[in-house]
Amino acid sequence: MMKALVIEKTDGKPGQVYYPLKQVDLPKPSIRPGEVLVKILAAALNHREVFIRQHLYPGINFETPLGADGVGIVVETSSPDLEHQWKGKKVILTPGRGWESNEDGPEGKYAIVGGTVGVSHGTLQEYVALPASELEEAPGHLSIPEAAAIPLAGLTAWRATFTKGKLRMGDNVLITGIGGGVALFALQFAVAAGATVFVTSGSEEKIARAKELGAADGVNYKKEDWSKQLKGLLPKNRPYLDTVIDGAGGDIVLQTYGLLKLGGVIVSYGMTTNPKVVFPMQAVLKNIEIRGSTMGSRKEFTEMVSFVNKHGIKPVVSTTVKGLSRADEVFEIMRKGTQFGKLVVELGDDAGEAARL
Ligand SMILES: NC(=O)c1ccc[n+]([C@@H]2O[C@H](COP(=O)([O-])OP(=O)(O)OC[C@H]3O[C@@H](n4cnc5c(N)ncnc54)[C@H](OP(=O)(O)O)[C@@H]3O)[C@@H](O)[C@H]2O)c1
Repeated sequence: MMKALVIEKTDGKPGQVYYPLKQVDLPKPSIRPGEVLVKILAAALNHREVFIRQHLYPGINFETPLGADGVGIVVETSSPDLEHQWKGKKVILTPGRGWESNEDGPEGKYAIVGGTVGVSHGTLQEYVALPASELEEAPGHLSIPEAAAIPLAGLTAWRATFTKGKLRMGDNVLITGIGGGVALFALQFAVAAGATVFVTSGSEEKIARAKELGAADGVNYKKEDWSKQLKGLLPKNRPYLDTVIDGAGGDIVLQTYGLLKLGGVIVSYGMTTNPKVVFPMQAVLKNIEIRGSTMGSRKEFTEMVSFVNKHGIKPVVSTTVKGLSRADEVFEIMRKGTQFGKLVVELGDDAGEAARL
């Protein structure tokens, strides 16, 4: 048997309910041909787990353990070839299924790992059986919590920044809500690609920390005139934004169409504050485009991990707790939005196990 974390069904309407976490014992998974068994060392949270607990996410499932992000060690393989390739390796797990390489979107039925229908496991469980094709070696320069932080947020940020945002060296880009997991990956990717990055946050301290990570400057979105303030910060020789990468929604187009160049692009990968965006005629007249962007394909996942390796990028981890029984502590941080970066739950028997790898 193994321990896993699911949500418990309680009464309540979507948006008003907050399903409690429940630790359960489940049969340890057995592997089929082509699969490997991974002992999970750490799992990271994404905002979707909060939405799942609030019943604001499609296809939630009370039996499937939560968690899309995981790092672990391969402890069992289904063939000599897989044993040679993977046994004993530290790996990160892909967070999606059903999307190989099509740039426009999934080729088939798409599903995200953890807490929903479509995939029968999550990463907040001690062992996961999965096809070996869903693994990438964990970048060697990362700690266990840093590696756990990569999959879902890294992939979402990768697609938003490069596939949809088409970011290039020298571009001016605005990344909103910089304390968020996806936003921080987008910042690190954009800085590594040679762009000039501006950020927004609800906290001056988070703006200061983003500057330490390479952001040129930032403004507080709680100030009504934040976009006017941002205009004053743009470089004199290039006083416009090429791209906005946004996870907040609401009035993002109204706030930024005046700062964007003609034909500028707003990439929307989420709508945390308001699930609708107003698109005014003034944005049409500037040929502004808004592009929806989700997680990404298996191909983009490989590209993203290779970029992380190439540039020695270290994901920003805000808080790590040890043990499934303490997961609620990091959920509370995410609910309050006080984090700067990813929230991680270490599994393993003790911290020493992770340190030895
Ligand atoms: N489509 C997809 O496949 C996909 C994938 C991943 C994520 N998402 C979505 O993207 C969003 C972010 O996900 P995440 O996991 O990165 O969440 P997260 O770590 O919880 O971050 C959320 C961030 O939102 C920011 N925020 C709050 N109010 C804001 C406002 N008025 N304006 C600008 N930013 C504001 C906060 O930034 P500060 O702390 O700096 O104030 C906060 O840190 C969620 O809605 C999530 O569902 C979608």
